[in-house]
Order: sequence, then structure tokens, then C-alpha cells
Amino acid sequence: MEIINERKASDKTYNDLLDMLLKSTYEDNGEAMTNEQIADEVLILLFAGHETTANTLSWLFYLLSSHKDVLQKLTKSFGDSTVYDCINNEYLKATISETMRLYPAAWMTERVAMADDEFEQFSFPEKTIIIPFFYGLHRDKTFWNNGQDFEPERFILNPKVEKSKYYFPFGAGPRMCIGKNFAMAEMSFFIFLFLKKFQIKPVGQTPNMNPLITLRPDKVILNIQSINV
Ligand code: HEM
Repeated sequence: MEIINERKASDKTYNDLLDMLLKSTYEDNGEAMTNEQIADEVLILLFAGHETTANTLSWLFYLLSSHKDVLQKLTKSFGDSTVYDCINNEYLKATISETMRLYPAAWMTERVAMADDEFEQFSFPEKTIIIPFFYGLHRDKTFWNNGQDFEPERFILNPKVEKSKYYFPFGAGPRMCIGKNFAMAEMSFFIFLFLKKFQIKPVGQTPNMNPLITLRPDKVILNIQSINV
């Protein structure tokens, strides 16, 4: 609140997210947000944007360290490319997608029926709470061959999987993640730059799942060595 109040009182332009939130107005009535609403938006962006990518990267490095073949293929795919090219690296994208299939940071979500509703053989009286269980769907034998295995190739062999009805790492519909592209870019940059500098080796530790609001590993222990030493 202090920062919001200071910003409001100052003439300086910072050209950052807080400036954008302070300047934005509602489409319907043209009014600005209250300080409480702005603070809520900042918190949402921090948690939705930080926890999710941090957890996904933790799972990804654990999976890479325990799947030498994937790690080798990934580092080889970087070739001479620069960090700017890595967003278009098909194998890197598939590796991130496959990590989010096995360990979706948003492992479930919930919705409340605003009115009586029905879908196929199911009926939902008003106020029913519905919990889509993404973790379960992402490993369901009906949709996935070797669903428990880490196989990034599946996203390359069948690109339709990304947009299928059984893969929702970023949710779906009007409340889908607004940070999807940012998250994919941010994670790609990090993985690329990290693997250019460091070698990772497993230490035989398997993380336990800690399903809170996001799906965290309890800890990921890796052996990391600088490549230039
Ligand atoms: C690996 C990274 C990420 C994952 C797996 C992820 C996942 C999700 C999912 C599944 C939802 C929908 C929740 C629901 O329908 O109940 C969501 C919503 C949201 N995400 Fe992300 N997210 C990620 C990164 C980010 C980033 C980087 C940002 C912002 C910079 C962000 C901002 C948001 C916001 C603001 C919403 C709420 C949208 C709304 O309710 O209209 N997310 N995210």
C-alpha cells in the first residue's frame, strides 16, 4: 500500500507493471481500480507467475537429471543457436510441455455452477463445486501411452496433443492463464542459459510431491558443475 500511495503521489513514470495497473481503467465505467484491487492484482501476478514457473523448472531439472538421453538430446538441439532462438526450439518446447504433463503446477482447479446445468450424462445443480483434476487427466491411460513415463517426443510425434481435450497445463476457457506465452519464454530462456553454463547429474534422490495450491516438489537435489571449470 505504501508503494502504491507513493506512486500515486509522484509524477515520475516508471513504465512497469504497477504503472500500467495504476493507469488502467474499467471498460464499462471508465473508473480506475481501488488501492486494494491493485494490491490484489500485484499479488496474483506474483504468485500465479512466480510459484508456477519456479515449480515447473524444479520438476524439469529433476526429470532431466534422471533422463540422460533427454538431457543429451536437448543440449545437442541448442547447437550454435542463441538465447533468442530458443523459443523456437521444438525439442525444448516439447520437454517443457512433457514436464507440465507429468507435474502440472496447477494440478487442479475449481469452478462453481452459477445455475443448474448439465453436460452429457451429468447434471450440476446450482452451486455445485466442480474440480477438474489436471494431474489425473494428464496421466490417464485412456489418453496417454506410457503415461507415467517422461517422453518429450510424444509432443513432437503428435503436435495435436498440445491442444487436446486431455492436456491443460494452463487451464482453458475465459479464465485460462494470461501468462502462458510469457511463462514459456521465461522458462525457455532460463533452461537454455543454465544448460549452456552448467552440467547436471542425478544424485539418486526422488522428490516427493507436495500438492498445495501449486504442485511443488518437496526438494530437488542435483549435482551441478560449471562447464567452464
Ligand atoms: C508454468 C507456468 C504457469 C502455469 C503452469 C500456469 C497455470 C495457470 C492455470 C492452469 C490457470 C487457470 C486457473 C483456473 O482456470 O482456475 C492460470 C491462470 C492465471 N495465470 Fe498462470 N500459469 C503459469 C504462469 C503464469 C505467469 C508467468 C503469469 C503472469 C506473469 C500467470 C498469470 C496468471 C493469471 C493472472 C491467471 C488468472 C487468469 C484469470 O483468472 O483470468 N501465470 N495459470
